[in-house]
Amino acid sequence: MRIFSGIQPSGTPHLGNYLGAIKSWVESQDSGAFFCVVDLHSLTLDITPEDLRLQRLELSAALIASGLDPEVCTLFVQSHVPYHAQMNWLLECVASYGELTRMVAFKDKAARQEAQRASLLTYPVLMAADILLYDTNKVPVGDDQKQHLELTREIAERFNNRYGQTFTVPEFSKPPVAARVMDLQDPTRKMSKSVSSPLGKLDIFDSAADIEKKIKKAVTDTDGEMRYDWENKPGLANLLDVYSAFSSESPEQVAAKFTRYGDFKSELAALIIESLSPIQARYTDLMGDRAELENLMRKGAQKASVVSAAVYDRAATAMGLN
Ligand code: AMP
Ligand code: TRP
Repeated sequence: MRIFSGIQPSGTPHLGNYLGAIKSWVESQDSGAFFCVVDLHSLTLDITPEDLRLQRLELSAALIASGLDPEVCTLFVQSHVPYHAQMNWLLECVASYGELTRMVAFKDKAARQEAQRASLLTYPVLMAADILLYDTNKVPVGDDQKQHLELTREIAERFNNRYGQTFTVPEFSKPPVAARVMDLQDPTRKMSKSVSSPLGKLDIFDSAADIEKKIKKAVTDTDGEMRYDWENKPGLANLLDVYSAFSSESPEQVAAKFTRYGDFKSELAALIIESLSPIQARYTDLMGDRAELENLMRKGAQKASVVSAAVYDRAATAMGLN
């Protein structure tokens, strides 16, 4: 079973990244799992060269601190492996302009007038390249990436039909709860690095005091009834999902344990602090030896290159380039 997933090194990972993606990566890691810091994707945003360089290292440290073990899985930086950009071009010749303009993530960005870069439109093709280069069976991601995954499957099938069996068609996989963590100040919108307000987004490196403050101020509702109901009580449902993801109880069981929002929120904050503090401590240690971190990531890229070179070659041959 081959697992592949990726995350952008832009901004500190937040609770959505952790519960929607990173935590399930840690649980599913084995020698067949590849996890990628997708720095080429971050170039679609406004990011200075210094920030990109630093955030790439910080995210690598954050992933290892969260429990990814470079001795077990393969952890690497996308731009260290040349086949991602090369495969991207082959797949741009298979994807259509129309299907890219229909991506919700692209339409959102276009509506916010961030879409002047051509790469914002072609972004999901590079993501398809990432995935297909590893003969991936399963892609653990948050719910917001489902449409991009469907596009990846579509591109793989079209390529196979046109050029002969070349790619494995991957499956989407999301965690059972908290696959879409919502903004703490606006539970109708997903928690996001770029859009959420400081109080709406809880970063995995937030201090205990900030976590308490953000949970306490998280928007709920006025009826005061502890009940798991996404339709009518999305703020509370979001917090129940977060509690459930950090414990072994279902959101309904968690709701039944409390009668008052205030008590629930204090216990939730304590649970988040207890879960994140060992990650924060390991992160500080890892960032203390940057040369070792760089070294680990380079080794990961060597392992990734061996697998992706063969798949790239197969695709290039199928298209008539070899
Ligand atoms: P990104 O930060 O956009 O590179 O996302 C990295 C991973 O985090 C992807 O698997 C996303 O699906 C996941 N993710 C991002 N935001 C959220 C969210 N609010 N809830 C759940 N998962 C998320
Ligand atoms: N597009 C993904 C996101 O924003 C990040 C990503 C890039 C990715 N390449 C990937 C996720 C490959 C899974 C597999 O979250």
